Amino acid sequence: MSNRQIKIEDLIHIIVQGGRVKTGVDVYNDHGVLLLDKDVVVDKVKTLEILMEKGISSLPTSGSEGGVWDAQGNEIKIEGNGTMGGERTKAKRPAPIAGVGTIERRLKEIEDLKTVAAQKYDEAKDSIKRVLGQIQESGGQFDYDEVQTHVSDLVEFLTVTDNPFSYLTKEIFSYDDYLYNHSVNVCAIGTAVLNRFNNSFSAAVNDFLSVGEHEAYDPFAKKKSRVDNSYRCYHREELEEISMGFFLHDIGKVMLPDKVLNKSGKLTSDEFELIKRHSFDFGAELLEKNRLRNSYIRSIVKNHHAPIFIGEERCYPEGDHPRDIPIHVKIAKLADIYDAMTSKRCYKEAFNQINVVTEIFRKYAKKDPILQYVLHAFVKSIGIYPPGSIVFLRNGQLAYVLESQGPLVIAFTDIQGNTLTSKPDPMDMGDKSISEDLKVDNRRSVKTPLEVCDRLPSYLQPITT
Ligand SMILES: [Fe+2]
Ligand SMILES: [Fe+2]
Repeated sequence: MSNRQIKIEDLIHIIVQGGRVKTGVDVYNDHGVLLLDKDVVVDKVKTLEILMEKGISSLPTSGSEGGVWDAQGNEIKIEGNGTMGGERTKAKRPAPIAGVGTIERRLKEIEDLKTVAAQKYDEAKDSIKRVLGQIQESGGQFDYDEVQTHVSDLVEFLTVTDNPFSYLTKEIFSYDDYLYNHSVNVCAIGTAVLNRFNNSFSAAVNDFLSVGEHEAYDPFAKKKSRVDNSYRCYHREELEEISMGFFLHDIGKVMLPDKVLNKSGKLTSDEFELIKRHSFDFGAELLEKNRLRNSYIRSIVKNHHAPIFIGEERCYPEGDHPRDIPIHVKIAKLADIYDAMTSKRCYKEAFNQINVVTEIFRKYAKKDPILQYVLHAFVKSIGIYPPGSIVFLRNGQLAYVLESQGPLVIAFTDIQGNTLTSKPDPMDMGDKSISEDLKVDNRRSVKTPLEVCDRLPSYLQPITT
């Protein structure tokens, strides 16, 4: 059965009224990057707005696999020309967040995304827990297929959600089980950075080479057909394999004694030498024991602490020239550093994430052109102000982040920290007319709603449950 195209504006109208859509066919951009998986049920306006921002104006729906449903679950008939059957009013794209209704809609979206993120996160975390348990029991064997299922699920969420890492804020992390949390975090951060890098770098190369789709003679079809000559840094299958590499990057740590791994005091030189072996020695050996010879996974496990610019210190192993360290390993390394520095451990407090991004940028900027590209993708992906988090303004007010872009915030206390009785309009921090004292105070850490729950007004309360 053929696919019908439906305008995204029409779909937004349906979803605003409580409906949903499933395409039943994968939707890619011009560079072959998957934008929407065929099995994802879209019931958020935000998802469609993101697709529009990425240049998609209509979505296909497969007659057999996909469909469009109203709020009551009745399928909406699609005519041959892509219009909806029956009576309907003219579709209208909702205005950007401004009014009370749209703020509430956004608050609900943040809440829903956090719930899904928490669920995917927990599943992936349980999976790595089981893997490490299996390795300890069996002396090295683990169920790769089982891990892959959960990582694929997490990666799918990361791919279809804008700024996905924002929803995996530290709020849902417990500070126990560091290694499990860290594996999922590095997978989440690394995948978000990898996707952004892949899109922007491939597009830049294509612009430079002026290549893309063109007509050419196809000897099998015996006619001219469209040929895609565009360059892709990583293909879809490769992206999934790399995400697995991010997830398993520290697998070799299971071979280290707990007392060394969680030591709160200074490590002796022997202990440090042992810890180093978790990557190029123990990690590589565990992959070999499980016959995992995938080059992406191997390179990440082996080299995620290797130097990525000439002269970088305290790195291991030092065998490969930084120029030969692949892009995905460079991404793994930055994701690893970011998560380690922003996490609380038994021997240290978490560092403010803004300071960590600044520090990473300062250290790795202007070393080589590819690393510079990676770094830009990293900074853009991190989402310094996650939606649903709390920031201080310079005048002392507390504000709730609605969108990380800007960021768009809504202040909910006065400058003394007393909860405001009325709901003020959101403020876009990217707006140049915002006065200095109303800007976000970058010297103070981003907080979670739970940390300031006594001052949250009632309309923000559901976010914390
Ligand atoms: Fe490591
Ligand atoms: Fe790590």
